[in-house]
Amino acid sequence: MSAPRFSPAFREQLQALFAWRRDVRAFRTDPLPAGLLDELVATACLAPSVGLSQPWRFVEVTEPGRRAAIRANFEAANAAALAAQAHHRQAAYARLKLAGLDEAPCHLAVFADAGTTQGHGLGRRTMPEAVDYSAVLAIHTLWLAARAADVGVGWVSILDPAGVAAALDVPESWHFVGYLCIGYPQAEQETPTLETAGWEHRRPAGSFLLRR
Ligand SMILES: Cc1cc2nc3c(=O)[nH]c(=O)nc-3n(C[C@H](O)[C@H](O)[C@H](O)COP(=O)(O)O)c2cc1C
Repeated sequence: MSAPRFSPAFREQLQALFAWRRDVRAFRTDPLPAGLLDELVATACLAPSVGLSQPWRFVEVTEPGRRAAIRANFEAANAAALAAQAHHRQAAYARLKLAGLDEAPCHLAVFADAGTTQGHGLGRRTMPEAVDYSAVLAIHTLWLAARAADVGVGWVSILDPAGVAAALDVPESWHFVGYLCIGYPQAEQETPTLETAGWEHRRPAGSFLLRR
């Protein structure tokens, strides 16, 4: 197949995809169509990775007991996070919905395998964390691919990583990277939920670019 040429119309659509990708916390409970998760994971595996190590590992969590353990893990971590907030922000924090664990039909835990020999260690000697970065890129690729299929993703990091690894019985060399709630969103929105809730707002790109 010859290399594709991307049209201005495609670029406009792609920009809309970036702008309308959202972290979703309010899901419908209907399941994803059969095979869609496998397609999303296959797309995620096209992400760049240090040394072509493809260190991402995906665990679809379906067993009720394991889901309950993740739910309890989140509850404990979230209670600790609430207590750690400055006093004047605690009421606002408590009002936030920070996960969609109960409604999302699909739960996907993502790990990075620090023990993988794929890639023969290239790029990882001075920066072993490049393995984790690679898994993050796979998540972002999956996130965009999901949104292009009208499917929402919500990233949950308010979790104790050791507890997640134990609940899912994964090898010791796997670092926990993120827990994804996946399903159809109750609504599409162009504004991040935390901005709508008044917690934080997005700054313009110019404030993040320095020149030296
Ligand atoms: C590494 C990472 C961890 C996150 N963890 C959580 C989380 O635990 N709970 C939550 O509600 N949102 C979480 N988010 C989502 C962010 O709050 C969200 O991306 C941000 O508010 C911007 O909104 P947007 O993704 O809709 O643009 C996380 C996002 C990232 C990238």
